[in-house]
Amino acid sequence: MENKIICNCMQVSVADIEKALHEHERFENVEKAFDEVQTITHCSTGCGTCHSKVLDVISELMA
Ligand code: FES
Repeated sequence: MENKIICNCMQVSVADIEKALHEHERFENVEKAFDEVQTITHCSTGCGTCHSKVLDVISELMA
């Protein structure tokens, strides 16, 4: 699960998203967290089809 690639274009895994999230204490909402994760990992900047998958992973990690 950890090494599962969520964004194929940018080769971003669950672990990469988790690491990016942990750079901050807490996010107000999933969108804010997504912006930050995207800035750090560049996930979802290619074809964009992973967008909802990335959001799902973030919500799960924030839960
Ligand atoms: S799979 Fe993430 S941008 Fe294409």
